[in-house]
Amino acid sequence: MNRITINLNNSKSEIYIGLNWNEFSRFIPVQNTVIITDDNIKNIYGSHFPQLPVFSVKPGEESKTLQVVTSLTERLLECGIDRSGFLVGIGGGVVCDLTGFLASVYMRGIRFGFVSTSLLSQVDASVGGKNAVNLGKVKNVLGCFRQPEFVICDPQMLNTLPEEEYLSGLAELIKMGLIMDYNLFSLAEQNKGRLLNRDIELLEYMISVSVELKASVVREDEKEVSGKRMILNFGHTFGHVIETMAGMKHGFAVAAGMVIASDISVQAGLLEPAARDRIVNLLKELKLIKEYIVPDAVFEEMLLKDKKKQGDNISFVLLESPGKAVISKINTRELMEFYKVLKRS
Ligand SMILES: NC(=O)c1ccc[n+]([C@@H]2O[C@H](COP(=O)([O-])OP(=O)(O)OC[C@H]3O[C@@H](n4cnc5c(N)ncnc54)[C@H](O)[C@@H]3O)[C@@H](O)[C@H]2O)c1
Repeated sequence: MNRITINLNNSKSEIYIGLNWNEFSRFIPVQNTVIITDDNIKNIYGSHFPQLPVFSVKPGEESKTLQVVTSLTERLLECGIDRSGFLVGIGGGVVCDLTGFLASVYMRGIRFGFVSTSLLSQVDASVGGKNAVNLGKVKNVLGCFRQPEFVICDPQMLNTLPEEEYLSGLAELIKMGLIMDYNLFSLAEQNKGRLLNRDIELLEYMISVSVELKASVVREDEKEVSGKRMILNFGHTFGHVIETMAGMKHGFAVAAGMVIASDISVQAGLLEPAARDRIVNLLKELKLIKEYIVPDAVFEEMLLKDKKKQGDNISFVLLESPGKAVISKINTRELMEFYKVLKRS
């Protein structure tokens, strides 16, 4: 078991990787605690939940809305949860985002923690204190920064995760290696079979490394002020467009975005073509490369609306080598030109 602490000015978040998930009872108050989960998790793990009120939402992105926040708020009030209340989100990124947001606004903020159940949430969503809900099609537009008191990442829970969800999470794990840690990338290259077979020991190690990397970024730039946190967006600029327009699951879209960003890095003279090939091969062998169709005009239109855009420039994450990312301010139209050249080659 590994414990990683994120100490910030006004908060402390403890992340436990490899701890049995139902040990969360150790970290919650005896009274006034409510579990927020989704129906899939409740069906699989609910019989092992402690005797606490359980509010379960429909699985998936459709639950990350203000309507669901409102209905959960009503239920918290009915249960008499006051400012001493505590929320435990048991689920993937959707449940974590929703629970963190609800806990942050309910009675101006109550305490909360997570049992993070999907690979995507263990390596990314549950760590770092970003909580948000969507408004219509606009993702994560209502949100806040607030750290969970604890996060439990139990890799055993990943055994029940559907294949597509598992692979989608792998993409974020590979991303962490690509932007910050050559050894993590190389370990994935050497252990593709074990990764695809969900080897618990390997996963516990790789999730721990990945969480420590994310924690180091969050400690330096909790609220995306200095720009350091931006490197986490590697593959996400094009990835978001592909996710939205081609309806592809997040991790697969990010994998496609990472291929584009690697190609652009080669074109910009930063990344060796051989290193780009290693990246693409790894993503292919981890079954993360899928076909998609997004017309150039749509890419262009969406990039012009990207929230990382300032004036005519966008902060785009490029690679110098696997393990070393750089943030580059690129003119959005120039970026599209790079992309079009790429597509023709
Ligand atoms: N806050 C952040 O920093 C951050 C970062 C990245 C992503 N996110 C958010 O995370 C969300 C995506 O997270 P996700 O991919 O975990 O989606 P999710 O929470 O919808 O989970 C995916 C599916 O897997 C199921 N599931 C989860 N764990 C399971 C398990 N152990 N066994 C069986 N089924 C399980 C869920 O019920 C769901 O159907 C998005 O809303 C995204 O915006 C947030």
